[in-house]
Amino acid sequence: MVINAERLWDRLMELGEIGAQESGGVTRYSFTEEERQAKSLVARYMSEAGLSVHEDAAGNLIGRREGTDPQASVVLTGSHIDTVPDGGKFDGALGVLAAIEALQSMEEQQVQTVHPIEVIAFTDEEGSRFGFGMIGSRAVAGTLRQEDLKHRDADQISIEEAMRAVKLEPERLHEAAKAPDQVKAYVELHIEQGKVLENFNEPVGVVTGIAGPLWQQFTITGQAGHAGATPMNIRRDPVQAAAEVLNFIYAETKKFPNAVATVGKFHTLPGGINVIPSQVQFSLDLRDIDEADRDVLESRIREYAEQTCLKHQTVLEIGLLQRVAPAPSAPEVKEAIVQAGTLAGRSQLPELVSGAGHDGMQFSSKWPVGMIFVRSEEGISHSPKEWSSQADCGQGTEVLYHTLLQLAQGDTR
Ligand code: GLV
Ligand code: MN
Ligand code: MN
Repeated sequence: MVINAERLWDRLMELGEIGAQESGGVTRYSFTEEERQAKSLVARYMSEAGLSVHEDAAGNLIGRREGTDPQASVVLTGSHIDTVPDGGKFDGALGVLAAIEALQSMEEQQVQTVHPIEVIAFTDEEGSRFGFGMIGSRAVAGTLRQEDLKHRDADQISIEEAMRAVKLEPERLHEAAKAPDQVKAYVELHIEQGKVLENFNEPVGVVTGIAGPLWQQFTITGQAGHAGATPMNIRRDPVQAAAEVLNFIYAETKKFPNAVATVGKFHTLPGGINVIPSQVQFSLDLRDIDEADRDVLESRIREYAEQTCLKHQTVLEIGLLQRVAPAPSAPEVKEAIVQAGTLAGRSQLPELVSGAGHDGMQFSSKWPVGMIFVRSEEGISHSPKEWSSQADCGQGTEVLYHTLLQLAQGDTR
């Protein structure tokens, strides 16, 4: 092996201690003390790898290894170190640490590249805190708008306020953006979070495209009342409406071959056992690799929800949290990964689609993007049970190492 799988593993376990929960899971939200601690640990790893380290205006932590041509565009790699509530040690963290490991190995072997390579630990990929994700990668793509910073967390703190609290200056966000000709390609290693590789009995795969998430917030408002004294036929109960809408969402989504729908948050007001709720709010996460299918599904759900809420004499409001287009992998990055697989002793890497969203989605209309997946045990992710073996993480990192060399050694700008 050209990379050091043990060092990678030790770092992964050490990073997983920050924000560790009793369940064995990890909670690290953006712009919090845990995230700051995680970033300073990762900054230390970057320095140990011989990289020059800085934080950009969006809070992205960047480690850079110079190439031999000072004018050449940069090859980007990395992932995120924030987590979902009670998430795993691998989602995001593995991609950042694998990239550092690949560059540290190059440094130790005194391998030079023409293009510089930057590892980025992106700010808030998950969207767990503000219901709005990929904040750091949007900033690098130059698509993060000042109005996006108005999204608020459960304590009503906005992204802008949270940034200021950790001494970031939102008015300087544009400085984090990279110009189109500054970047050669982006490649990210990530755990699969599904069962395809396990079913193939393969440790590593190459991603053909990433399904696009649409996040909406449904608010249904009715009339509060007494749970015992109000006959069923005169209620304006928003939860009755919501129950029908949820049933429709699940049944309709199953009619599409690749669509998935999740209602992960559900909240009633005022929240008393013996009170008919006055309002219900729930989130909808709708995804498909085929954007046209997702559009059709979205409008069918909206239409059904409107009719149902009317029937229950309740008022419906659907707010948009984020709409991200599906992102196909660039043929040249996919090809570099396949070649790298061969160099790492893995001929014929299996191809698969990513159901989960990733930072690279923000770049795919601007730069060539590709991803390497590492097998997930039982396909479990966003859970304390998330796991990939040390050997598989090492194999994936070996492929990443060769991919970065392929991309950074070419003589094109
Ligand atoms: C990130 O993990 C996402 O796909 O929501
Ligand atoms: Mn992730
Ligand atoms: Mn995730």
